[in-house]
Amino acid sequence: MCGIVGYVGRREASALVLEALKRLEYRGYDSAGLAVVGGGGMAVEKAAGRISVLEQRLDGRALQGRLAIGHTRWATHGMPTDANAHPHVDCSGAIALVHNGIIENAGVLRDRLAARGHRFKSETDTEVLAHLIEEHYSGSLELAVAAALKQVEGAYGIAVVSAREPELLVAARHGSPLLVGIGEGEHWVASDAAALLRHTRNVVYLDDGEMAVVTPSGHRITDLDTEPVQKAISIVDWDDEAAERGGYRHFMLKEIMEQPDSVRMTLRGRLLQDEGNARLGGLRLSDEELLEIDRIVLTACGTSWHAALIGEYMLEELARIPVEVEYASEFRYRNPLVDERTLVIAISQSGETADTLAAVREAKRRGARTLGIVNVVGSSIAREVDGGIYLHAGPEIGVASTKAFTSQIVALALLTLRFGRLRSLSVLQGREIVRALMKLPEQVAEVLKRAAEVEQIAAAFARAPNALYLGRGYNFPVALEGALKLKEISYVHAEGYPAAEMKHGPIALIDELMPVVFVAPQDAVYQKIVSNVHEVKARKGRVIAVVTEGDREIAELADYIITIPPTIDPLTPVLSVIPLQLFAYYIAVRRGCDVDKPRNLAKSVTVE
Ligand code: AGP
Repeated sequence: MCGIVGYVGRREASALVLEALKRLEYRGYDSAGLAVVGGGGMAVEKAAGRISVLEQRLDGRALQGRLAIGHTRWATHGMPTDANAHPHVDCSGAIALVHNGIIENAGVLRDRLAARGHRFKSETDTEVLAHLIEEHYSGSLELAVAAALKQVEGAYGIAVVSAREPELLVAARHGSPLLVGIGEGEHWVASDAAALLRHTRNVVYLDDGEMAVVTPSGHRITDLDTEPVQKAISIVDWDDEAAERGGYRHFMLKEIMEQPDSVRMTLRGRLLQDEGNARLGGLRLSDEELLEIDRIVLTACGTSWHAALIGEYMLEELARIPVEVEYASEFRYRNPLVDERTLVIAISQSGETADTLAAVREAKRRGARTLGIVNVVGSSIAREVDGGIYLHAGPEIGVASTKAFTSQIVALALLTLRFGRLRSLSVLQGREIVRALMKLPEQVAEVLKRAAEVEQIAAAFARAPNALYLGRGYNFPVALEGALKLKEISYVHAEGYPAAEMKHGPIALIDELMPVVFVAPQDAVYQKIVSNVHEVKARKGRVIAVVTEGDREIAELADYIITIPPTIDPLTPVLSVIPLQLFAYYIAVRRGCDVDKPRNLAKSVTVE
C-alpha cells in the first residue's frame, strides 16, 4: 500500500510533507518523492530507497512553496527505481501526481498517448495518468482530472497539483483510501490519518467515485461530474501509535481484517469471465511453453508451504498436471529430479527467504523454468525467477502471515485456471471457477463479521496447553496453517493432521482437556470428516468446528462452531483459514503475547 500526503496552506510545504510521509514509513515502501509548487514553478525530487535517501538528495534544500504532494511507493508495476518513484509529471512538467492503486487499462492508454506524442520516463501505470490529465487540461485542473479519471479502469487514490494553479490541490478516490485533513488556513490530503495527526484530527473520508478540490481556506467534495457531494467531518481519536495500525490494536489484526481488499487486489484485472480463464501477464510463458511443462514443483517455507499444498491439490485436480511440494530447505540439498520440462514455482511473501531463494537457484542450475508467487515487488526471488505472479496484497507487517496466505491461494487458483484451460478444463468449468473467485472478497468480509464469536470461543481455550487441528482434502493444509498460527504467536503447542490419520496415533491425545479444531466445510470429503468428529466426541474431546453455513450434522456434534459461506472446494481454504487466524490472534492477546513480533521469529528468514 503506498503512502500519499498533500498540503496546501499558509506554511512552507516541503518539510511538512516529508515529516508526514515519515509517519507512513511503518507501512513498508521502496521509494519516496515529493513535488512542490512555489514562485519558481514546480520542483520534483524523488529517490529509490528510504525517505532519508530523498532527504540526502535534497541536501538541506527546502523546495520553496506552499503547495506540495509526497509519496512513499510500494512497487506494483515497475521495479523500485528513481524513475519509477512518484510523483510522476506530464510532458510539460507542470502537472504532477502521486497514486496508490493499479490502473488496469494503463497499457491501452499509454499506447494511445504515445501515439499522440507523449513521452514516458517510467515503466509505471501511474505516469500514464499524468499525461492523460495533460491531454484534458485547458485551464482547470479539477476538470482535467475528472475527465481523465473517466477513462481509467482500476483502483486509485491520487493527489494532483499544477504549477499553473499554485493554490489548489485535487484528489480523487476509487478503491484506495484517501481523506482530506482540515486545518486553520491550510488543508491536507492523505492516504492514512496517521500522516496528519500532528496537524489535525478533523478529516473527511472520501468514498469511491469522489473528488476533493482543496485550497488553503477550504475544500469541496464532488463526484466525477463535479456535482457537489455532502460529506460529514470525522474526528480521528486514535493516538499516533494506533493510527499507524489503522486504529487496530495490532498489525496482525489489521491485516486479517484487510483480506477482503487484499484478495480483491490479487484478483484485480486478472479474471477473464467469458473465456473462463485468468490473465497472468507476468508469467512470461507462452501457451506453447506452458504445454511443454510435464511436472510442477512447488517450493516454499512455513505458511507459504501450506499454500503450496493447496496449490498441489488444485493443479492436480483441475489442470491434471503432476505436482510435488517441497520444503525449500530440503529441496536445495537433496538431489531432486528436475529438468527443462519441470516448472519450479517458489512461493514467498517476502521474496527474501534464504532457503526458498536457494531452491530457485538450484532449480535454475538444473535447467528448470522458474516462477515466483511473491508479494514484495523487486525482491530477490522476484528478480531471479523467469516470471511470476505478484500478490498485490500490500505490505504484511505482522510476523505471522495472514493476508499473504489467502492471496497466495488466490494466485494459485488463477495459475490453475491458466494451466487447466490449456489442458482439461472446459470454458464452462473455467467460468464456474471465475464466478467463485469473483464472490470471494465479499465472502471473506462475511466471515470476518464472525470475529466476535471467535473471540468468545478463544476465551474458553486461552489457557489450553495444546491443541489438535484436523482437516481433509483442501482443508488438511488449513489445519496445518491453523496450528502454525497458534504456535507462532501464542507459544501454545499445536499440531495439524489429516483427520483420517488421527486413528494412527494422535487419537491417544484426545481427552476432555484437549481442544480439537476441525476444519470441516461442505466439500467432497465432508461425510468422512463427520465420522472423525464422532471419534473425538466418543472420547470426550472438546470440538471447535469451522463449518459451512446451514451445516447440521457437525453443528449438532461440536461444542463450538464458526460458519463460513459456501464456495467451490478449491477455494474453501480462503474462507476456512480466517476463523483460525482470529482464534490464534485472540488467544495470543489473552496470553499477553507480543502478537506482531513473537519471540524468536523474524518476518523474513533471510538466513539458513
Ligand atoms: C508464517 O506465519 C511465518 N511467519 C513463516 O512461516 C513464513 O511463512 C515463512 O518464513 C516463509 O516466509 P516467506 O513467505 O516470506 O517466504
